[in-house]
Amino acid sequence: MTGKTGLDLEQHQKEALERIAAAPDKGALEQLRVQVLGRKSALSQELSRVGALPPEERREAGKQANAAKRAIESAFADRARALRDAGAGNLGVAEAIDLTFPGRPPRRGHPHPVSLVMRELEEIFRGLGYDIARGPEVELDYYAFEALNIPLGHPARDAFDTFFVVPPDSDGTVDPDVETRVLLRPHTSPMQVRYMESHKPPIKVVIPGKTYRRDNDATHVPVFHQLEGLLVDEGVTVADLRGTLEYFARAMFGDDRRIRLRPDHFPFTEPSLEVHVSCFQCDGKGCSLCRHSGWIEILGSGMVHPNVLRFGGVDPERYTGFAFGIGIERIAMLKYGVDDLRSMLDPDLRLVRQF
Ligand code: PHE
Repeated sequence: MTGKTGLDLEQHQKEALERIAAAPDKGALEQLRVQVLGRKSALSQELSRVGALPPEERREAGKQANAAKRAIESAFADRARALRDAGAGNLGVAEAIDLTFPGRPPRRGHPHPVSLVMRELEEIFRGLGYDIARGPEVELDYYAFEALNIPLGHPARDAFDTFFVVPPDSDGTVDPDVETRVLLRPHTSPMQVRYMESHKPPIKVVIPGKTYRRDNDATHVPVFHQLEGLLVDEGVTVADLRGTLEYFARAMFGDDRRIRLRPDHFPFTEPSLEVHVSCFQCDGKGCSLCRHSGWIEILGSGMVHPNVLRFGGVDPERYTGFAFGIGIERIAMLKYGVDDLRSMLDPDLRLVRQF
């Protein structure tokens, strides 16, 4: 049947449907869509001519042309769906999985820089014949302060910013019974007296562990680590302390290091000595790491106070000893060039993986 305007709609539709059904892929189908339904297509021209027909013929002609258009449109949709479904069936070939390809190895765990330094320290002191002991993190006031020559009310207590397990009353008064008051140890020194209570001299021990203080900024965090050292024997002097800590500084920071001792104050040592190591970055010439002094403070130490020996059941007339406390995070930061202490507590694995 020829339309009122000349195009054989039926024939046109039949041909279009055949070509659509034969379109080999999405691209060909799109090209065909422009040809068959585009503005310049025979069908579009036919539709635009319909408007020019006399009204009595316009209705019928419009109906026929629109029906042909809808049939063609739905044929396009069917073909597009068929092509898509066929494509999905080919996925196995198109995105083939090579089962012989080696797998991605699982990431292995990695020790934190604090653990690395701790292990290294334990190795150094084990090499010098020290025993390794551990003590409670939840500690009695007695061992944390009293037995370290820091009685209740002593101003040195303030420096330790202690977390008390049973906090002071609202009026600031604290349970006066130091035998039962409980706290999170603010240093590893309480183990000095605990260890002396259970071991007779000669004593050579290091105590690694976690310590707690109410503090939080770029140079202080509430949880950190220390390694306590204690040596008690007959005739121990500052020269022994010096030799031991110089050996440690060289093992840790390199054979060329020197140390120097500066007066300090701790109630549990007399004399108390701050230990500085010659800067391992500039070799003592002065740089930003050592604040242009050539020296870096690495630990606190001293000769064990006679009162502390007595608290530990050791006769100060017969024995002397030295003790030291090393801040592990500080050593790790110096060794690995980290400048914010808080990053030592950062759970971000990207940070840990750098070491
Ligand atoms: N306990 C001290 C501190 O935490 C360090 C120290 C240990 C000093 C042993 C002297 C002897 O600051």
